[in-house]
Parts: sequence; structure tokens; C-alpha cells
Amino acid sequence: MTVTITTLVENTAGIPYVLAEWGQSMLIEADGRKVLFDTGPSAVIIENAKKLNVDLSNIDEIVLSHGHYDHTGGLKDVLTLIKKAGTKPNGVEIIAHPDVFQQKCFYVKGMQPGRIHIPFTRAELESLGARFNLTSKPVKISENIMTTGEVEISNSYEKIDAALHVQEGEEFIPDCVADDLSVIIKTDKGLIVLLGCAHRGMINNITHAQKITGVDRIYAVIGGTHLVSAGPKQMSETIKALTQLNIQKLGASHCTGPKSAAVLANEFGDTFFFNNTGIRTIL
Ligand SMILES: [Fe+2]
Ligand SMILES: [Fe+2]
Repeated sequence: MTVTITTLVENTAGIPYVLAEWGQSMLIEADGRKVLFDTGPSAVIIENAKKLNVDLSNIDEIVLSHGHYDHTGGLKDVLTLIKKAGTKPNGVEIIAHPDVFQQKCFYVKGMQPGRIHIPFTRAELESLGARFNLTSKPVKISENIMTTGEVEISNSYEKIDAALHVQEGEEFIPDCVADDLSVIIKTDKGLIVLLGCAHRGMINNITHAQKITGVDRIYAVIGGTHLVSAGPKQMSETIKALTQLNIQKLGASHCTGPKSAAVLANEFGDTFFFNNTGIRTIL
């Protein structure tokens, strides 16, 4: 089976002519399916898809990694494009966690909260053809493609950013980002794990993928690792875990941050690549 991952939106342009923007979107082609994993924050996904000769009008499903705007803000433009094309008369299935519509914000006491939630209502998206499949459980999309569902936290060195909150009325409640899920693709060489933001930790996501599939071998990990604010302890534990896993491809994007990406590049040599906008990986 050939798996093709095309990065439609990411913080940095990896090739000429595409646009870079803080966020992430990847198109997965495997098992004869086209699955869009996140949409980036805006209509930039539409422009980049054109430049990369990607037809978004015939995608089979959309998976949202979590409810932050930088992964969901392009959703309205994608749904509008599909609606105009008339290719999906029954609408498009969108797989996500039930917490995806929470009023998520970046909040530090005494400061103005930064709004980072999905910038649309559910009704608004449904009027454009969205058919939400909201569940905390893993979803099997095809023979070899599935979502992780809610990721179990199993180690002590990966912590959720303390500034992430959910607003409920006047109250700001720490966000455990239960909605943060990944996509798993089973191959003969092992699992491919595609990360959204990995707010619950990159290694926790991988461990969870191993647990729910019963497959230990990890072939590739691609996406946002959330190592941007990792301290030395988390970095060294992460490198130790990745080394033990003997991963063959490590494509860091988005919330990895340039400094942590440089550390991984130095550590993992040819196994590592920068998974930026426009990068197409065939596995
Ligand atoms: Fe996020
Ligand atoms: Fe993000």
C-alpha cells in the first residue's frame, strides 16, 4: 500500500509559491481514500491546494485533530468549495471529539484571554454540508486508516500547557485538551502516526496508537509535536523514547518550534525532515 501525505498548510513554506501560515493541514491518500486532516486557519488551504494540484472537492472525510482555530479555521472555505462543486450531495463527514466546539482560549490570570477556538458554530458548518461524527472513541475510516480518539496520558514528562483554558460563562477552566487526537495508518512497515498539535504529548500519542492497534512497530511520525516549549527533561526523554522506537521517518511540523526541530534534526539525521507547506511524503 502506498501512503501519500501532502502538507497543505504549515508555519513555513517548504517549496516555492505556496503560502505559509501558523497552523496545519495534511491530506492523506491511502486505501483509495482521501482524508483531510485539519484545515489550517484560513482560506490559504484553498490557494495552496490549487498550487499543489490537489482537488479538495472529492475528499472522502475530514478529521479535526482538535478545536483550535489554527487547525479548523479553513473548514468553512473547504466546505464551501465542495458545496459549489456539487460533488458530495450528502455532505461531508467530519470526525472529531465532542469537545471540539468548546470556547478555548489562551489565558493567563490578569491578562486579556486570547481566543483560539474554532471560529464557526456547528449550525453554520452544517448548513454548508458538514455531517459531524463527534466521539471520544477511535474511528475506523478504512481498512488501514483510523483516528486515535481521546489520547490517554501515560507518562509524567509531557505536560499540557497551563495557559490553555476553556471559558464557561465568566469562568476560565484549565483545558485538558481531551479533543486532541491523531490519525493512525497501518502499513507493513509499522504504524504511521500523524499528529495534529499533540497537546497531550507526542510520546503519549504514539504509546496510545500502539495500545489501541496492538502494533508496537512505529514506521513514521509526522506533524505537530508540541515540543515548542519543551524543557531539557522533556527533550531528553522524548529523544530516548524515539530512539527506542527506532522510527524510520520523523517529520516535524508546526508547534515543534524551530529550536526543538533543530535538536531533533541533529539527533536523528536522515530519519528527520522538516514537514513544511508543500512537502509531499510517499511512504
Ligand atoms: Fe492547538
Ligand atoms: Fe496548533
